[in-house]
Amino acid sequence: MSVIYSIKEFINQTVSIQKSNGIAGLLKVGLRFAYSPVYKTESFWLTTNKISAEFKSEASKPRVSMDRLSFKVITSNKEADSLEAQGYFFRSHPTYFNHGLTLYRKWLDLGAIACCTFVDKEFAAINWIIPSRKTQSAIKAAPIKIDYEKKEIFTRSAWSNPKYRGLGIYYYTGRYRNRYLLEKGCIVSKGVVAFDNKNGRGIATAGGSKLYGTGKLTRILWWKNWKEQYFPKPIEWSEADNYLLSLKAK
Ligand SMILES: CC(C)(COP(=O)(O)OP(=O)(O)OC[C@H]1O[C@@H](n2cnc3c(N)ncnc32)[C@H](O)[C@@H]1OP(=O)(O)O)[C@@H](O)C(=O)NCCC(=O)NCCS
Repeated sequence: MSVIYSIKEFINQTVSIQKSNGIAGLLKVGLRFAYSPVYKTESFWLTTNKISAEFKSEASKPRVSMDRLSFKVITSNKEADSLEAQGYFFRSHPTYFNHGLTLYRKWLDLGAIACCTFVDKEFAAINWIIPSRKTQSAIKAAPIKIDYEKKEIFTRSAWSNPKYRGLGIYYYTGRYRNRYLLEKGCIVSKGVVAFDNKNGRGIATAGGSKLYGTGKLTRILWWKNWKEQYFPKPIEWSEADNYLLSLKAK
């Protein structure tokens, strides 16, 4: 997350926590933040989607003229260099995830694959593919179990340029990403959405993913533990809150 994004995110979250949980809730979160360098837990939904070449295509034609849109798959910094030589820049763009404006370059070096959409030559959206366990671990992505040998794949870190949000560009990027994945023989994509990630939940719900379980990351100083729990059968997002309520009731 870039510095400006971090500050905006911090303010938004503080206001929203105070509105929904009051001052006491805000203090509790503040306390949790204070000891988070030592001890932290984070819970995630585990999501799955059958990879479809027509992902949302009928429901959501991008509301930007198709002849202005181009989709590019970039698998290395060398490919990104040659794209930049043609005027398509994305690696140094401030986004929610491109920490220090260097992380995207690092992810490419570690084997992650960038799926980018450009409006003319302007960077409009990105979605990342993690193609192997080696890359998953190297970029420190959530250690969700993925059967890469059985053509499952990990997708993550969707971002759309604020200038083009709400225009179906995320769907467009996802659709062309899926077509690339199908060409590579992949059939199922998996992902994680943190319980408190409203945007992630929004696009995962809209994109029709199902939930097959939860994952919990516990960190004590440098020690980390990841535990997955599976539902008897995948559930819809509309059932997620009831599931959380049933956990709290236990
Ligand atoms: C989330 C994000 C990628 C959506 O991109 P976008 O290009 O505006 O999305 P689209 O216009 O293609 O919309 C796709 C669908 O997701 C829904 N959606 C998009 N953002 C949403 C949000 N914040 N909350 C709920 N739903 C959302 C849209 O309503 C649409 O569904 P619909 O067809 O049923 O209306 C973009 O807002 C973003 O980059 N946010 C910051 C980074 C982030 O939070 N990424 C997600 C975490 S991995």
